[in-house]
Amino acid sequence: SWTMAAFKAQAIEKIRAQVGTGKVICGLSGGVDSSVAAVLIHEAIGDQLTCIFVDTGLMRAGEADEVVTLFRDHYNIPLVHVDAADLFLGKLAGVSDPEVKRKTIGATFIEIFDAEAKKIGGAGFLAQGTLYPDVIESVSFTGGPSVTIKSHHNVGGLPERMNLKLVEPLRELFKDEVRRLGVELGLPKAFIGRHPFPGPGLAIRIPGEITPEKLEILRKADTVYLEEIRNAGLYDVIWQAFAVLLPVRTVGVMGDGRSYDYACALRAVTSVDGMTADYYPFSHEFLGRVATRIINEVRGINRVTYDITSKPPGTIEWE
Ligand code: XMP
Repeated sequence: SWTMAAFKAQAIEKIRAQVGTGKVICGLSGGVDSSVAAVLIHEAIGDQLTCIFVDTGLMRAGEADEVVTLFRDHYNIPLVHVDAADLFLGKLAGVSDPEVKRKTIGATFIEIFDAEAKKIGGAGFLAQGTLYPDVIESVSFTGGPSVTIKSHHNVGGLPERMNLKLVEPLRELFKDEVRRLGVELGLPKAFIGRHPFPGPGLAIRIPGEITPEKLEILRKADTVYLEEIRNAGLYDVIWQAFAVLLPVRTVGVMGDGRSYDYACALRAVTSVDGMTADYYPFSHEFLGRVATRIINEVRGINRVTYDITSKPPGTIEWE
């Protein structure tokens, strides 16, 4: 019968056959997928692999440290930490269109990977943790007019002129299978259970223009929200939860004064594979507590809403 151990052995053979004696770089996003891909490839080819963690400036609070610690200290896998926040934010300045954001981010990642590949003496391959649902939702559906829902940055968002060949050992897997493979590879449980985080990061959780100020506000709101979810013991029953900073300011009262600040939306869904999803039915008491904390603790937000859209017709992310 088909087991994860068998999949792993087969995947390792495939990677060796594809790569030969070549060098591979692997972009780590902080998510489960790219981490599992990296550990798998490291088992296959050892030090022919170099991991690249690109700090895009679009990460959640604390993200960079967690990834660097896991790979450098726990696994001892060579890791290059590229601080590219200024580069990404510069290229995204003035960009509001979701697909332009995604493509800009994809192109910037490739620019960095190409440069890093040269630095380590000519890597010929780029490894990514692309999953089956990423592939499906990025390509056109057959049988009707061509529709791309979203260009996932690690699939459709890549420019054609890229010099590196792709290594994507998880391309046939769904999320729950990747998590089982992660267990097979000995990744820490807390890491495997992490909610998915999209490659384009917080950029697609700020509809409209992205600014450093908005990123800071969103990070704070997201941290409070996830802290409350963990405290309530709900982290593991929810597939993914995050805050979205809306490009809308609303009027409120704070103490004796008027406030005119951003509104934020909270999202939490249950799902098996991310292809369909239901909103999570929090208690009103829980939602009230989170809203109060965000408004009291996060300067810049004075209104909180809860998104009760399922997928379909919504998508999980707002962009
Ligand atoms: P949507 O918003 O399409 O999201 O319903 C489904 C799942 O995919 C994640 N997602 C991405 N992951 N690169 C990624 O690695 C991307 O460009 C991307 N876009 C969405 C999303 O967070 C959710 O888990």
